Amino acid sequence: MLIHSRIDGGPLPEAMQNGWTGAALENRVVVSAPGKLMLFGEHGVVYQRPCIVTAVDQRIRVYVERTGTGFLRIEAPNVGVNEYEAGIGSVADSGTPKGARFIVAAVRNFDRRYGVRSGVTIRTKSEFSSEFGFGSSSAVTVAVLKALSELFEVRISNDELFGLSYRTVLDVQAVGSGFDLAAAIWGGTLCFRSAGPKIDPLDIEGLPLIVGYTGVKADTASLVRAVADLRTRYKNLTDRIFDIMADLVEQAREALVARDVDSLGALMNINQGLLDSLGVNSLELSRLIYAAREAGATGAKLSGAGGGDCMIALSPEPRRQFVEEAIESAGGKLLGIRAGAPGVQRDPDSEPW
Ligand code: PMV
Repeated sequence: MLIHSRIDGGPLPEAMQNGWTGAALENRVVVSAPGKLMLFGEHGVVYQRPCIVTAVDQRIRVYVERTGTGFLRIEAPNVGVNEYEAGIGSVADSGTPKGARFIVAAVRNFDRRYGVRSGVTIRTKSEFSSEFGFGSSSAVTVAVLKALSELFEVRISNDELFGLSYRTVLDVQAVGSGFDLAAAIWGGTLCFRSAGPKIDPLDIEGLPLIVGYTGVKADTASLVRAVADLRTRYKNLTDRIFDIMADLVEQAREALVARDVDSLGALMNINQGLLDSLGVNSLELSRLIYAAREAGATGAKLSGAGGGDCMIALSPEPRRQFVEEAIESAGGKLLGIRAGAPGVQRDPDSEPW
């Protein structure tokens, strides 16, 4: 379906209507941003406690091209958007296809802050399924905003990029800590604290991580709301759980620095118990987590909002193969990812598609 609406801010300059787009500016850029995996501290981070997140080596690539049309055109086949057109300043609302909402909102926010001075076509291509919970919406938001800043030669710092990306995510889904945006922007492995944001890079090279996908797509926003409801009823208890999670994240941070896999595994198991007490565990996750532990994993827990998506386990050689087989036998799909991938970047050598 094609939807046309007028560009905010009136007609394009005459030169642009004729297809001229300015000699100094490039006409197209390709930018990629990584997906992420939460290692420790999910849910607590929504309540200003710290978490540890790592960027994964599976990326979303966006191709952004300046056009003379005055419209925003989106092609995002990975999320079922084949041909969508809207005005540059359009608001992402319930009439916007789900897979296009973050892009529409990102373009609107960039336009309001810096001005989008032409039409743009945005194409996206993902190396991972949006079902995995790797943060495809956040990665695409960061990549689109970065690409627009490159295309229109607006210098923005990572902190500004975070601010604009976070505004975009809140516009679309109202909840979220922004930890996934931080992973997409800075990359690597980070201890993330919401205020600021405060970013603390960590080196986890060689961490024997295993990732298993349950096959069930989790709805992050409704799980965050469920925890908020629990907190309304049991504020004292849930806040104490978040405080324990905060202590746990600090200890996990020290264990990561010391490369102490035994402690990390034990802390994963405690973190899993705390998440279970918040009501976000599921049978599918438990099956994979217990299978991994019984096969000898040092520790295992859910990763992200819970309810489905992925679990993670730690297992050095020689038990690694047994743990992987156990996860598969319990119905999980192994996702071979490498942690600590680079953050958002231009991919000048990527061909447009
Ligand atoms: O479902 P994911 O992988 O996007 O992780 C959500 C993590 C939460 O802490 C539950 C929410 C958030 O925005 O921090």
